[in-house]
Amino acid sequence: MKELRKTHWEAVYRNTAAEELGWYQAHPTMSLHLIESTGVQKTASVIDVGGGDSTLVDHLLDQGFMHVTVLDISASALERAKARLGDRADLVTWIEADITDFRSCKTYDVWHDRATFHFLTEAEDREKYCETMNRAVSAQGHVIIATFAYEAPPTCSGLPVVRYSPEFLTLAMGNNVVFIESLEEIHVTPEGTKQPFIYCRFTKGKTLR
Ligand SMILES: C[S@@+](CC[C@H](N)C(=O)[O-])C[C@H]1O[C@@H](n2cnc3c(N)ncnc32)[C@H](O)[C@@H]1O
Repeated sequence: MKELRKTHWEAVYRNTAAEELGWYQAHPTMSLHLIESTGVQKTASVIDVGGGDSTLVDHLLDQGFMHVTVLDISASALERAKARLGDRADLVTWIEADITDFRSCKTYDVWHDRATFHFLTEAEDREKYCETMNRAVSAQGHVIIATFAYEAPPTCSGLPVVRYSPEFLTLAMGNNVVFIESLEEIHVTPEGTKQPFIYCRFTKGKTLR
């Protein structure tokens, strides 16, 4: 299953240009807005889980974030992002890993995931994801997860996904994080298909912002 997963994503990133990927965003407005809403400093450590070759890292570097990590199952995706960033790629930590196997040796103040968690259709994989997230996010850290909403298609990149409401996603994240807010976005793919997303922001700290 895991090998198939990796094979799928390597093929996607080898065969499709960035701007043609269904999830492509030149400006990840909602993600940047929610990261700003956490109130973290530019010295905060931020991980983009399943970041692929997303432009989020470019924008975070532009804003002055100093400790950005991008994790993805696909080496091809990470290579593309690095090539796009040129010399600035050296400012970023790149991790090629399946998130369900990942064991972090450091903690992160912001855990961001757009359209990766929703591919975990097996309860066991979701449990592993949450265990890793709980260990890897700092005590007062923040979690931002974007998934397909209930009204979205049942597949993404040809793979089945789990679609969420904010309530269902909050349940899936478990008791170690507290729900703060949710936002909706209708993402339009390069082919013009509408994909309703939900974005939820959680905190590990007890103080509600
Ligand atoms: C739909 S794309 C979204 C990419 C990026 N987050 C964005 O918004 O542009 C899903 C990404 O998750 C990665 N991915 C899928 N399953 C994964 C897993 N189990 N572990 C790590 N990355 C994974 C894929 O390689 C791909 O880059």
